[in-house]
Amino acid sequence: MISFQKEQIFIVTGASSGIGKATALLLNELGATVIAIARNTERLTQMKAGCKYPENTYIEVKDLAENIDALPDYVKSLKEKYGKFSGMAYCAGITDVTPVSFIDFEKLQHIFLTDYFAPILFTKGIADKRNNSGTGTSIVLISSMSGVYATKGMTAYCGAKAALINSAKCIAKEIANKGIRINTISPSDIETPMTMNDNIKTLLEQRIHLYPMGIGKAEDAANLTAFLLSEKSSWITAQNYILDCGSI
Ligand SMILES: NC(=O)c1ccc[n+]([C@@H]2O[C@H](COP(=O)([O-])OP(=O)(O)OC[C@H]3O[C@@H](n4cnc5c(N)ncnc54)[C@H](OP(=O)(O)O)[C@@H]3O)[C@@H](O)[C@H]2O)c1
Repeated sequence: MISFQKEQIFIVTGASSGIGKATALLLNELGATVIAIARNTERLTQMKAGCKYPENTYIEVKDLAENIDALPDYVKSLKEKYGKFSGMAYCAGITDVTPVSFIDFEKLQHIFLTDYFAPILFTKGIADKRNNSGTGTSIVLISSMSGVYATKGMTAYCGAKAALINSAKCIAKEIANKGIRINTISPSDIETPMTMNDNIKTLLEQRIHLYPMGIGKAEDAANLTAFLLSEKSSWITAQNYILDCGSI
């Protein structure tokens, strides 16, 4: 059984909604201390209220797409506030459907800021030995099936998520000798507020027949994340886990 100690502190980004929220709730239930990051204070507060041990969850309101170059310093400031980190689940992200004929640099930049540049520079901060608890530290980045298989109309999102998967593997090779692990999870369709918006919902309805066990739940991704953050996965690094209910 997976369990954590209160002294194990994990950052969870995107903790106000969907996969990040489910991950924050699960890590808290399993005994860890959680630093929950997102922009929406009200939804973060609701998540904290739903925690089994709310006294072990701390809220940090932050736009991760702003001042990205300073993210490693932001991680350092969190370390000074809370202590060294046992790991991170980076679940913050945005999606986008834009045909290539409408793509421009601003659009690409917008998606890459949130879905690629921010997670990589946040990871740089966690991987810094001054900010983590050394051997056993584990990082999980939520990528997407769109980073592995192309989806019509999703040039920017697919590009950012693919880049995230391969960069994580590079980082894994650099930090393995410090006993620090990093893996990505690539879910296909998970029912969250992201997939319930009108554009994506239509795509989802077209794909529903692919899932004999139904559409995924945020908890499905959270369970795998908790395993990868735990010592039970201590020989697993540089992997990308496809979470698609066998649909491919
Ligand atoms: N749902 C799926 O089917 C699916 C499939 C494959 C991959 N994914 C990936 O899984 C991750 C989580 O998605 P989800 O479905 O859980 O979506 P969601 O319910 O929309 O949650 C997204 C989270 O990201 C946070 N976020 C977005 N932009 C941010 C920013 N600039 N700064 C700080 N926080 C930000 C949001 O918080 P605030 O709005 O409060 O800031 C929210 O907590 C994403 O990376 C997504 O690409 C999802």
